[in-house]
Amino acid sequence: MANTILVGAQWGDEGKGKIIDVLTEQADIVVRTQGGNNAGHTVFIGPKKYVLHLIPSGILRKKKICVIGNGVVVDPVGLVDEIKGVLKLGVAVSPKNLLLSETAHVVMPYHRELDGAREMAKGKNKIGTTKRGIGPTYGDKAARVGLRIIDLIHPERFEAKLKERITENNAVLKALGAKPLSFEKVLREYRAAGDFLRPYVTNTVVYLHHAVREDRGILFEGAQGTFLDIDHGTYPFVTSSNTTAGGACTGSGVPPHRMDRVVGVMKAYTTRVGEGPLPTENAEIADMLHAMGREFGATTGRARRCGWFDAVATRHASMVNGIDQLAVTNLDGLDSLDVIRVCIGYKIGRTRYDYIPNEIETLAQCEPVYAEFPGWRTPTDKVREWRKLPLNARSYLKAIAELTDAELAIASIGPARDQTIFL
Ligand code: GDP
Ligand code: IMO
Ligand code: MG
Repeated sequence: MANTILVGAQWGDEGKGKIIDVLTEQADIVVRTQGGNNAGHTVFIGPKKYVLHLIPSGILRKKKICVIGNGVVVDPVGLVDEIKGVLKLGVAVSPKNLLLSETAHVVMPYHRELDGAREMAKGKNKIGTTKRGIGPTYGDKAARVGLRIIDLIHPERFEAKLKERITENNAVLKALGAKPLSFEKVLREYRAAGDFLRPYVTNTVVYLHHAVREDRGILFEGAQGTFLDIDHGTYPFVTSSNTTAGGACTGSGVPPHRMDRVVGVMKAYTTRVGEGPLPTENAEIADMLHAMGREFGATTGRARRCGWFDAVATRHASMVNGIDQLAVTNLDGLDSLDVIRVCIGYKIGRTRYDYIPNEIETLAQCEPVYAEFPGWRTPTDKVREWRKLPLNARSYLKAIAELTDAELAIASIGPARDQTIFL
């Protein structure tokens, strides 16, 4: 398989986990390159549901190697729990099929506490983070005071660095009105996690370099989505990493000219969890999807905000990621509608926008301009061939792909592996 970068083309939760699982069949290696356990990637295999946060979704297929790359921020206690949880579900996970980068940064308990305390202090201006400590960990990385996995697995070095960092962070926590952390307790917990993870740790950049030379197919599993990107998203309502295609290179050490294609995953409608503008947000769509038991967050359980498909956004995503091929998921979510709307522009008064304005206040004022498509009002979840999809469903998919400016390659009509149509 060609080396493939898979990204979310909206605000996260596009169904990346499902599509990764499907594409892993043809890959040798699956790599996470950014984000942390703020991600929640759902994969169904038969009746069994798996939600992966840090482990690449490729772990569910035999004989595939999974890599947690240097760009990821790793909560070691969370990762140990996740490995144990996945093992309990009968999936083989060991240092033979899961590799952890030496240079990935470590999410510390003070990062989680700071995340929560800062959100609290922001009050109604909060970002709505997952409170997993993601922002403070990337903050420390950029400020060059972070701890890395290579520190975690060297007990003496870890202890010295922890002592220094916890003192400084406890002062900040105190100033924010939060409880300081116990050095001994953190040391104990993190030592145990470090001991457990040590056999998984390796130089993943060198490993991937050899894999590229041997022509093994690599799949880069994006987390979050384009509009949560720290540079290209709806700042400040974003996460703290580069969720767009470039993040796959910096977060793995595999150079850009070794990448062969970019696959963008998007839902047939829009969802967002957390705060920030969402121009096509619509209460009726949200009620409909929630009543079907859908669109509850895989990590925090929060109800996702829902709206019509926003082609202004996905076209922008296509531009900043260089999306070659599209996977459209959750088409079946629209099966019961008479009329389906697609946002093809924004307006504020008489001013039209055919791009996402950079000023968040302006975006918040944008009203969507809609085109309407006739619904198909037929269940699609049992369809397995493109030509057997209702004509209106095919027209809708073709239209949103064309508006997004990319080629439609996959349509997904249910969470299961076989509920996937290849074009
Ligand atoms: P991710 O974060 O991008 O991996 O997406 P999540 O797993 O957080 O959320 C996507 C949800 O949609 C999950 O519950 C998936 O099982 C589900 N899903 C994915 N594709 C489809 C689809 O085509 N139809 C339906 N009904 N559910 C889907
Ligand atoms: P996957 O990989 C959807 C959102 C949070 C919040 C913002 C910042 O499953 O698509 P953070 O904890 O990262 O500092 O929160 O980003 N967010 C996600 N939304 N899917 C995700 O991951 C997300 N990861 C973070 O809700 O709005
Ligand atoms: Mg998710």
